[in-house]
Amino acid sequence: MAKLGGYDSYVPTSPMGKFAVTGVAMGGIGGLAFIVFFYFAPAYSFSEWAPEQPVAFSHKLHAGDNRIDCQYCHTYARKSEMAGVPSLSTCINCHRNIKTDDPGPEVQKVMDAFEAQTPIEWIRVYDLPDHVWFNHKRHIAKDITCQKCHGQVQEYVVQKKVIDHKMGICLNCHQENDAPTDCWTCHT
Ligand code: HEC
Ligand code: HEC
Ligand code: HEC
Ligand code: HEC
Ligand code: HEC
Repeated sequence: MAKLGGYDSYVPTSPMGKFAVTGVAMGGIGGLAFIVFFYFAPAYSFSEWAPEQPVAFSHKLHAGDNRIDCQYCHTYARKSEMAGVPSLSTCINCHRNIKTDDPGPEVQKVMDAFEAQTPIEWIRVYDLPDHVWFNHKRHIAKDITCQKCHGQVQEYVVQKKVIDHKMGICLNCHQENDAPTDCWTCHT
């Protein structure tokens, strides 16, 4: 117990101290294993997840080469818990004016879907378990960049998950920035 989280006593004087004590109170050995697991979780490796999407959309082409602002498409990030994926009308706003003679097969799929009013079923890349509560708005209001949590998206041809948001990653940053670390901040 002595060196858990780098603190010497049972008195919860710090967020990590409180975290440790709560964890132990949660169930002795189980709690201890729990803490050890999550405290070291960020060190675990994982393989990048980059699903093939129904349309070959490239962030490099849009956000990189053409410098379109992230929030032009992910409009809700600033306003709500969700960043959201853009609706087809956002795509069409531009694409109705680009290469109108021959938009190419990938853009044609977007046009057809828009005509038929069927949304494109993008495959989720970042997805926390249901018991975790996350909120984009609060983070963006603190000027935390998208790249801090999603990597250099403007360089990716295919969107990929480069950061695995384990609890330790959330907690480390919360501690460093005096953001709340109580369990119910993120678990409801
Ligand atoms: C702000 C304008 C803008 C918006 C919004 C936009 N695009 Fe684009 N898109 C472009 C530009 C510019 C190109 C590059 C065209 C070129 O140089 O051939 C492009 C290229 C593409 C290509 C590659 C076309 C090819 O010939 O390979 C696809 C696919 C594509 N966009 C899909 C989308 C989808 C899906 C959306 C909506 C989620 C979207 N775009 C929204 C401007 C936009
Ligand atoms: C032209 C519109 C457009 C722009 C600009 C754009 N995105 Fe996206 N973004 C999309 C679309 C469409 C998807 C869903 C397809 C995919 O994952 O590639 C997406 C997916 C994502 C995802 C994965 C969502 C998931 O499934 O978990 C992240 C993260 C993301 N974008 C971040 C960014 C960041 C950061 C920027 C700025 C550097 C940015 N996007 C700029 C349209 C855009
Ligand atoms: C503090 C970390 C953090 C920051 C900063 C952040 N995101 Fe996210 N983002 C996440 C997490 C975690 C998820 C998964 C949320 C879930 O599953 O509930 C996510 C999910 C997404 C998704 C998938 C759809 C959704 O709304 O859940 C998109 C798109 C996205 N982020 C785009 C962005 C963009 C664009 C920015 C910058 C304007 C941004 N994110 C900033 C952590 C972050
Ligand atoms: C890069 C730093 C950073 C990362 C990573 C981060 N956060 Fe945060 N988070 C903050 C800061 C700073 C605040 C405080 C915002 C404020 O004071 O309004 C915050 C606030 C929050 C809040 C709102 C708290 C409240 O009082 O309403 C929630 C919920 C949250 N974060 C969840 C998460 C989750 C879940 C993750 C991991 C998936 C995460 N955060 C990752 C920096 C971060
Ligand atoms: C800043 C946000 C944040 C705080 C505060 C937080 N957690 Fe978590 N927790 C997460 C995230 C994110 C995950 C999901 C990690 C993953 O997907 O592996 C998680 C996962 C868990 C799990 C694992 C469930 C599973 O899926 O296996 C348990 C148990 C848990 N948290 C308990 C706690 C307890 C107890 C506290 C308070 C001491 C706490 N959490 C505080 C963000 C947080």
